Amino acid sequence: MAETNNNAIKSVLLTEKQLDEIVTRLAGEIEAHYSAPGKNLLMICVLKGSLIFTADLMRKINLPMKVDFMQASSYGSGTVSCGNVKIRLDLKEKDLSQYDILVVEDILDSGNTLSFLLNYLKERAVRSVKLCVLLNKPERRKIPIEVDFEGAKIADEFVVGYGLDYNEQYRNLPYVGILKPEVYGG
Ligand code: IMP
Ligand code: MG
Repeated sequence: MAETNNNAIKSVLLTEKQLDEIVTRLAGEIEAHYSAPGKNLLMICVLKGSLIFTADLMRKINLPMKVDFMQASSYGSGTVSCGNVKIRLDLKEKDLSQYDILVVEDILDSGNTLSFLLNYLKERAVRSVKLCVLLNKPERRKIPIEVDFEGAKIADEFVVGYGLDYNEQYRNLPYVGILKPEVYGG
């Protein structure tokens, strides 16, 4: 018998209301930056974790823009990144030369995944590459990464919901919650 999603949550870190306030603020910052003359925004949603964040964020940005998707993998099924990043899904848009790219990620942890993705994009001819993350765990950083638009800094705890998963579960929780350590054997 399936347990409810909520039973796996130790505590709520960000409520739906708090998430909405964060996303609204970020959308304002992004809109202000990309409304400068000559900017041509291409938002890259990094699957799967940032699907809900991107969907909410883009609807609050009142500018012409395109969206595309990438998927990278550095995690197995557990809670620790292994540092061996692969591109699982590449952009549909092949000629990036005309775009100002904004990478939208759910969470910045060790930095392995994003440093690989950002380098990969910068190697292709693009006008600019910036980074928007919903959550940032600075204590866990192994590779320094500059964040241009940041939702919230959080402590070193494993969180799920609002797109974030553990073993592909809990993405559909409408809030961000701290997973009970016993769920992942911690
Ligand atoms: P990094 O390469 O270690 O920075 O890992 C980034 C990726 O790890 C994110 O895109 C998430 O998919 C995953 N991740 C890191 N921390 C968490 C967490 O607390 N909950 C869920 N996923 C996480
Ligand atoms: Mg992810």
